[in-house]
Amino acid sequence: MRLPRLLLPVTILGLCQAGWAQSPTYGLGKTPSAEDIRAWDIAISPTGKELPPGSGTAKEGAQLYAQKCAACHGATGSGGKAPPLIRSKSASTTSGPCLAPCVREGNVMATHSPYATTIWDYINRGMPFLQEGTLKPNEVYALTAFLLYKNDVIHEDDVIDAQSLPQIKMPNADGYALPEWKHGMPRAFPNKP
Ligand code: HEC
Repeated sequence: MRLPRLLLPVTILGLCQAGWAQSPTYGLGKTPSAEDIRAWDIAISPTGKELPPGSGTAKEGAQLYAQKCAACHGATGSGGKAPPLIRSKSASTTSGPCLAPCVREGNVMATHSPYATTIWDYINRGMPFLQEGTLKPNEVYALTAFLLYKNDVIHEDDVIDAQSLPQIKMPNADGYALPEWKHGMPRAFPNKP
């Protein structure tokens, strides 16, 4: 009797499935709930559609900056140990190692980022360094407004919120391009100014 050609693969597949079903689970982890995923899924896209309610102005941001950011980023927004956040017309005052992509005084996030929402997202997720996640949405709006104002992107009394932030036309919106990199080429972002 000739076995149908498909029988062998089908049998193997069946055995695999049986083995799969019986494989141990090690009792580790759990399936995340929709709520668990929401708590982690805090990234803000360029459109800003994920932005939470709240608002802030540069004036409010100035105070917060002095309290929570100046120690690392410098009182004037440059010259500190951490990367400069406010463009400075004077020569580079930042010394020490520069993390790639290296940012120096003339090329701060508010001037090189193509989207204003990226600044909000970065501050919300990553700052203050080592105290991440402690800022409230209003504070992040205010700090973003402050950095945009200080880099001449918005006016001092502009109110930044979920509607206005994505509308801001960033100075480098049309000029942003990732360097062309192919496998085997040197690093895309050499670690120097
Ligand atoms: C304890 C030191 C420290 C404090 C306080 C701090 N930062 Fe930072 N910040 C850093 C370091 C270090 C980096 C660079 C991190 C990297 O490149 O991975 C950074 C990077 C940034 C960047 C990205 C800069 C760029 O162009 O890549 C922004 C924006 C920023 N910080 C905003 C803030 C704001 C706003 C506050 C206050 C709420 C703050 N930081 C407080 C240390 C600090």
